[in-house]
Amino acid sequence: MELGLNGKTALVFGASKGLGKAIAKTLSEEGARVAICSRNEELLEKTAEEISAGYFVTGDLKIEGDAKRVIKNVMNEFGKIDILVTNTGGPPNAIFQDTSKDQWKDGFQNLFLSTIEAVQEVLPSMKKNGWGRILFVTSVAAKEPIGVLTISNGFRAGLLGLMKTISSEVAKNGITVNALLPGYTMTERLKDLNVDEKKICAQIPAGRIGQPEEFGDMAAFLASTRASYITGQSLACDGGYLKGY
Ligand SMILES: NC(=O)c1ccc[n+]([C@@H]2O[C@H](COP(=O)([O-])OP(=O)(O)OC[C@H]3O[C@@H](n4cnc5c(N)ncnc54)[C@H](OP(=O)(O)O)[C@@H]3O)[C@@H](O)[C@H]2O)c1
Repeated sequence: MELGLNGKTALVFGASKGLGKAIAKTLSEEGARVAICSRNEELLEKTAEEISAGYFVTGDLKIEGDAKRVIKNVMNEFGKIDILVTNTGGPPNAIFQDTSKDQWKDGFQNLFLSTIEAVQEVLPSMKKNGWGRILFVTSVAAKEPIGVLTISNGFRAGLLGLMKTISSEVAKNGITVNALLPGYTMTERLKDLNVDEKKICAQIPAGRIGQPEEFGDMAAFLASTRASYITGQSLACDGGYLKGY
C-alpha cells in the first residue's frame, strides 16, 4: 500500500531510540522528511544518520517551553510540520504512597504539558495547510493501570481525553489526532523496568513481547494520507494485552 508520505514533513519527539526511533525510521523509509528530537545530542546525531532523518534538534520535554522551541526550530528548517508525534521517556515507577509532589510535577510537564505546548504551536500551520496528523504516544496504562507505574497511570488516561477533545475541534481542518497505546515492547525502557519476561508473556495473548518496528508500522499508517477518516481513536499495539473493548 502506498502511504502517500512523499513530500510530507514529520517531527518525532523522543526519537533517538525505542518507539520514537522506530516511528521516525518507518516514516523516513516511506518517503517523509523527518526531524527527530531527544536530549542526548551524540546519540541523536548517530540515530539521525542511521535512519536518514533529515534534521535533528536536542530538546528536553521536562523543561517548560522546550517543546515549543523545538517546533519553531523545525518549522524554520522544513517550512512546515505535517506530522507531529509526541513521545517522551517514561516516568519512574513507585507506588502512590512513595510518589513525591515533585515527581508528579515533573511527570505532568514531561507527559502532559509538553504535549499541549507542542500541539498548540503546530496547529496554526496545519490549519493553514488544511492537512495534519498528530499522534500521541501513550501506553496501555491509559486504559488499564499497570502496577507501580503510578504517574503513568495518572496522566496517560487524561491524555486520551485531551486527544479526543482536540480531534473533534480540528477534524474540519483536515487534521487527525489519535493516541497510540504501546503494550510491552522490546526497548531500553522495558529493560530498565526489569520486567519478568516470562510472567509478562503469560498475560499477552500473542505470547510474546512486541518489537518497536511493529509499533512504527501502525504509527506510519495513521500518519499517512490513507488514514484520513480515522481520528479521535486510541489504538493499542499490544498483542491482545488489553482486556477491555
Ligand atoms: N517500551 C514499552 O514497552 C512501553 C510500553 C508502554 C508505554 N511506553 C512508553 O512509551 C514511551 C517511549 O518508550 P520507549 O520504550 O521507546 O523508551 P526509551 O527506549 O527509553 O526511549 C525514550 C526516548 O525518549 C527520549 N527522552 C527521554 N526523556 C526525554 C525528555 N525529557 N525530553 C526529550 N526526549 C526524551 C530518549 O532519549 P534521551 O534520553 O536522550 O532524551 C529516547 O530517545 C515512554 O513514555 C514509555 O513509558 C513504553
